[in-house]
Amino acid sequence: MTAETKVYTLEECKKHNTESDCWLIMFGKVYDVTKFLDDHPGGTEIMVDVTGRDATDDFEDVVHSATARKQLEGLYIGELHEDDKAKMRSAGVANAPAGASKASPQAAPNPAVTFIKAILPFLLIAVLFLYQKKGSAAA
Ligand code: HEM
Repeated sequence: MTAETKVYTLEECKKHNTESDCWLIMFGKVYDVTKFLDDHPGGTEIMVDVTGRDATDDFEDVVHSATARKQLEGLYIGELHEDDKAKMRSAGVANAPAGASKASPQAAPNPAVTFIKAILPFLLIAVLFLYQKKGSAAA
């Protein structure tokens, strides 16, 4: 978080809950999506409906693309107040990070990559084993 980063309380965010003035709270950050509403492929209403509360789960439930996540950066206006982040955490709201300050969340890791990383050591051992076996058979 830089010195110029604006911090908004939940109460303040709740005031921006219409089509002509629409803020979303996601990942502990505040986004002014007013100008984006008409361009949102998922529609206007769905966004206005999730104002005034944490919309992280709503956003994640749709499994938005990397492009959508990149768009978030341009809509970022500041951080949610630490007290409100803490309240959301204690209320069990997911993804209200303690001190993360990036304007957009990290894209979720690709499950295929995670899987390959996990089995790589076993694959190497198997290849070495086969190679050794082949060598001793030839001798
Ligand atoms: C600033 C926040 C948001 C951005 C930048 C955004 C952006 C996008 C984009 C680019 C798509 C097209 C598919 C893709 O590339 O993933 C999309 C689709 C969609 N979004 Fe969002 N979105 C935002 C917030 C939300 C929220 C909070 C909800 C739910 C409450 C939502 C619901 C949907 C739905 C349902 C679709 C699918 C539309 C369809 O394929 O019929 N979006 N969004």
